[in-house]
Amino acid sequence: MKNFAYKVSAAGRVNLIGEHIDYCGGKVLPCALSLKNTVYISPNNDNCINVEWTTLSEKVSMPIDRLADFKSHDYAKYIAGSAYFWREAGHVVKGCDIKLDCTVPFGGGLSSSAAIEVSVIAALATVAGEPLCKTEIAQTAQKAEHLFAGVNCGIMDQYASACGKKDHAMLLDCKTLQCDYIPVCLEDCRIVVIDSRKPHSLADSKYNERRAETDEALRVLQRRFDVSCLAEISTEQLEQAKNLLSDTVYLRAKHVVSECERVSQAAKALIDGDAALFGSLLNQSHRSLSELYQVTGKELDALAAIAQNHPACFGSRMTGAGFGGSTVSLVKTQYVKDFGQYVLKEYQKQTGYEAKIYETEISDGIIVEKL
Ligand code: GLA
Repeated sequence: MKNFAYKVSAAGRVNLIGEHIDYCGGKVLPCALSLKNTVYISPNNDNCINVEWTTLSEKVSMPIDRLADFKSHDYAKYIAGSAYFWREAGHVVKGCDIKLDCTVPFGGGLSSSAAIEVSVIAALATVAGEPLCKTEIAQTAQKAEHLFAGVNCGIMDQYASACGKKDHAMLLDCKTLQCDYIPVCLEDCRIVVIDSRKPHSLADSKYNERRAETDEALRVLQRRFDVSCLAEISTEQLEQAKNLLSDTVYLRAKHVVSECERVSQAAKALIDGDAALFGSLLNQSHRSLSELYQVTGKELDALAAIAQNHPACFGSRMTGAGFGGSTVSLVKTQYVKDFGQYVLKEYQKQTGYEAKIYETEISDGIIVEKL
């Protein structure tokens, strides 16, 4: 791209396992993807952030001292929120011209919003000549998502987007932000990401509802047990206290507690190169998200079941918030093409939607290039 000073990108992500537990203090296992948002940026003397997109026709000019006015703007809210909270944390935000090129699909459940927020903050810090503290960038991006985008999300997406590492999954403890990188090298297997193409219009409100239900579970269980988050509750404790919880809240908590257990088994399976065990944990996770947490819907259920049915597939599950978006599957490399064709055809037959397979690799998080 001509005439810009820097090119700064941050990644979309796929979560391998550990769904809807980041905001409960659990451990999750995402990977950053080569699908990313790239910000081309140059400083200007306008005291405004002037925004353009490669894929959208609109242009927006946001005065730096009036960023909050852009809170309800469809796309600019992510940029405005990121710059607003970065500045509020005491960082320098300079006037700049930016052009965004996002290859993370919008609404695909692969965290396009986190990729935009994280790359914008990293770009602002770069033109201001500040060192990049990736954890702080992720936390500020999360704040923008909470307060400008209205989604009460956990830290997983922003952290993965900022701190991802090529060819590695990240075992991220969302309570402490301690992250262990695990090489993804399951022999003769590939991770396949498929978008259900189901629009997820109610996703944000349902997401916030689930989060409130887990908060409720924690509040009640803390009367009985000395825990700081739901992820610290054991299966035995949950069963002992079952009668204190409403039926729905119990189901939600049961998902959280069992998913935490599956993440530690999956991390071990990944380290041991045990694709069969890893795959079976993916299947169990999907089932729990469908039956206990109820965030899948019939399209994601169909997509995961069709994938699970293919003989070359070790396991498949929805990834991300759910209510639409994508699945992640573990498939024998030599049959990936056949798997893809089969899944797309069957899914179309069953649901009427045309799913899409993403060609993507596990990649680094923030990348800065001087142009
Ligand atoms: C969304 C949120 C994350 C996480 C996932 C579900 O992607 O942004 O924080 O809660 O849903 O695991």
